[in-house]
Amino acid sequence: MKERYLADAGRYDGRMKYERCGISGVLLPKVSLGFWHNFGSVDPYERSREITHYAFDHGITHFDLANNYGPVYGSAEETFGRLMDQDFRPYRDELFISTKAGYDMWPGPYGNWGSRKYLMASLDQSLRRMKLDYVDLFYSHRFDPETPLDETLQALVDTVRQGKALYVGISRWPLEATRFAHQYLKERDVPLLIYQGRLNLLDREPMDEGILDFCEEAGIGFISFSPLAQGLLTDRYLDGIPEGSRMSRGKTLKESTLTPELLAKLRNWNEQAQERGETLAEMALAWVLHQKAVTSVLIGASSTAQLEKNLRCVR
Ligand SMILES: NC(=O)c1ccc[n+]([C@@H]2O[C@H](COP(=O)([O-])OP(=O)(O)OC[C@H]3O[C@@H](n4cnc5c(N)ncnc54)[C@H](OP(=O)(O)O)[C@@H]3O)[C@@H](O)[C@H]2O)c1
Repeated sequence: MKERYLADAGRYDGRMKYERCGISGVLLPKVSLGFWHNFGSVDPYERSREITHYAFDHGITHFDLANNYGPVYGSAEETFGRLMDQDFRPYRDELFISTKAGYDMWPGPYGNWGSRKYLMASLDQSLRRMKLDYVDLFYSHRFDPETPLDETLQALVDTVRQGKALYVGISRWPLEATRFAHQYLKERDVPLLIYQGRLNLLDREPMDEGILDFCEEAGIGFISFSPLAQGLLTDRYLDGIPEGSRMSRGKTLKESTLTPELLAKLRNWNEQAQERGETLAEMALAWVLHQKAVTSVLIGASSTAQLEKNLRCVR
C-alpha cells in the first residue's frame, strides 16, 4: 500500500454520475459508500483504507457513518478519523460526510433514542472521533415514539445553527412523522435534505408506505441503504455460504434468511440479469436507482473487487 495517497486525477472524468438531492443544492454520487461493516477496529485498517481510496478515485464523494458503527461502537468513526488525518484532509471540501445518532451507543438513559441530550452529545463525540470540525449531514437514525418530535427536530436544527452540521436528515421514520419533520424543519429554514431508508428488490417498504411519493412531492432526497440486501442480491450466496461472508459471521445477516424459496428467487433474478448481460448486483442497484425520488444507493463493500463490480450500475 502506497504511503502517501494522491487521489486519481481522473476521478471526475464522467466515471461517476451525480444526482441532485431533492430540490437542494447538493449533488450526491449515484453510488455512496457506507461504513456499517468493514471499517471497525476488528477489520484490517489497510483494507478499509484501500476501499476508501478506490471509492474516492472512482468519484464516490459521499461516505456514510453512524456513532455506533464498528464493532466496537465508535470504531468506524475512529477509522475514518485516521483516514482523514492520513489521506483525506486535502480533499475535505470534495467529501460529503454523514453521521447519525439514534441507536444504543453508551450506557445509561442518555445514550440512545432521540432526546436533545443524546443527539447533541453524540454529535460532539462523532466529530472528535472523525477528526472533523463539522459533518455535512447529521441524521436522526430512527424514529423515537417516546420523545416529542419537535425536541428531536429542534436538536437537529441547532446542530446546524452551531455550525456542527451543514444539513440534516432522518432515517427510518414513519410517513406521518416524516411529514411533520419536513414541515417543522422548513419553517426553521433548515430543510430536510434527505431520507435514508431500506429499499431493494426484496424490501420495498418505503415505496409501499408512501415515503418515496412524499419525498418526490416535498423535494426531499432519498438514499437507499442495504440496496444489495447485505449481499443477498449478488452472486455471494447462490452456491452456498462462503467463509468470511457476512452471513457466515451470522450477526446482521442470518443463515435462516436464506430459505429455499428465497434462493430460487435469487437464482431466477440472476438468470434474468445474465440474459441482460449484467450481474445480479448490477441489476439490483440499477433497479433502485431507477425508482422515483432515489438520489443514491448506499452500498457496503468488503473489497475493492466488489466495489469495482457494483460501480458498473452507474450509467
Ligand atoms: N439507516 C440505517 O438504519 C442503516 C441500516 C443499515 C445500513 N445503513 C447504511 O447502508 C450502508 C450499506 O449497507 P450494507 O452494507 O448492508 O449494503 P449492501 O450493499 O446491501 O451490502 C453490502 C455487502 O454485500 C456484500 N457484497 C457487496 N457487493 C458484492 C458483490 N459484488 N459480490 C458479492 N458480495 C457483495 C458484501 O458483504 P461480504 O463481502 O461481507 O459478504 C458487502 O459488505 C451501511 O454501511 C450504512 O452506511 C444504514
